[in-house]
Amino acid sequence: MLILAIETSCDETAAAVVSQEADGHFVVHSSVVSSQIDLHARFGGVVPEIAGRAHVERLTPAIAQALVEAGIEGPELDGVAATVGPGLIGSLLVGVSAAKGLALVWKKPFVGVNHLEAHLFAPMVDEPELAVAVAAANGDSRHERAFPLVVLLVSGGHTMLIEMVGPGRYRLLGETLDDAAGEAFDKVARFLGLGYPGGPVIDRLAAGAAGPPLRFPRAMLNDGYNFSFSGLKTSVVNYVRKQSDVSTADIAFGFQEAAVDVLVVKARRAAHEIGAVGMVLGGGVAANSRLRERWLDVCLSDGLAPYLPSSSMCTDNAAMIGAAGIWRLATDGPTSLDIGALPNLRLQFSS
Ligand code: KG4
Ligand code: ZN
Repeated sequence: MLILAIETSCDETAAAVVSQEADGHFVVHSSVVSSQIDLHARFGGVVPEIAGRAHVERLTPAIAQALVEAGIEGPELDGVAATVGPGLIGSLLVGVSAAKGLALVWKKPFVGVNHLEAHLFAPMVDEPELAVAVAAANGDSRHERAFPLVVLLVSGGHTMLIEMVGPGRYRLLGETLDDAAGEAFDKVARFLGLGYPGGPVIDRLAAGAAGPPLRFPRAMLNDGYNFSFSGLKTSVVNYVRKQSDVSTADIAFGFQEAAVDVLVVKARRAAHEIGAVGMVLGGGVAANSRLRERWLDVCLSDGLAPYLPSSSMCTDNAAMIGAAGIWRLATDGPTSLDIGALPNLRLQFSS
């Protein structure tokens, strides 16, 4: 199955051509991501009106480039997928309208994709073994050994710990009670005057920390699977106000250690409690080098399969929309063209 996928939920305009082969592994024929970071950086965050307008300007060239790079013409496709939610309404509408229009012109099925489910599919695009196991396990109990998996989805808008019971079957274990993990990185970076988005800058700065390690609080560390990051942000702010002589690198390091520690400790505990066979990392914050390092350490020492998508697959892209779209199309069939953008769409938890 070969599809064109479109992603415009936030500030990346993306298009990709993706196929799934007979054994279940995904092939990315092209993946174009046009980041709008330059447009939003001076406002310290994404400005919805600017994002929507930029998607209108950039989407058609991105789609054209994705098709040319893949060497594919519309009529050869088996479907057109687009993110229908969650995200910014004005941004989502651009991608959804374009995908529906192309699907109508080419007489191909349209498939609406949940952006959060797509982040859960991202590791499969990079890890053929996982994709093959997922495909094999579809309705076949002999392959249940690929599951359950613990998935940590950490982005600018979400922090969720999920049990993946099987393909398309999720159980929410915990989520953030206030700020998302990426939002905490972005807010701390903004306070330190490091610009937007903050995650990559803090990641880079922390690597150069030289002073004695700073220890910030780990909220709710031993208390269930929910997260809270706003107290950590406040304690960094209070610390910096009192200690003006500490280097930004040392603060970035201390903050990152605290944030990553909570994420890893809870995911590890969940893996043990549900008897997981592997741990999957997804979402923009999954690009964090310290989080990846600790994730790998835990998996190696506990005998769990580590699923760590590449950094470009962690942040928003259309290849993951394509993978999730292929799965949804095969499982549920085409999405009705009556569907609109769903800014508050949630992940469906089935058990
Ligand atoms: O998944 P994503 O691209 O967009 C959303 O759906 O939110 O995630 C963006 C978030 C931002 O908050 C950004 O600061 C964070 O991911 N991020 C990072 C890193 N790279 C991106 N956070 C920590 N370390 C990184 N290396
Ligand atoms: Zn995302």
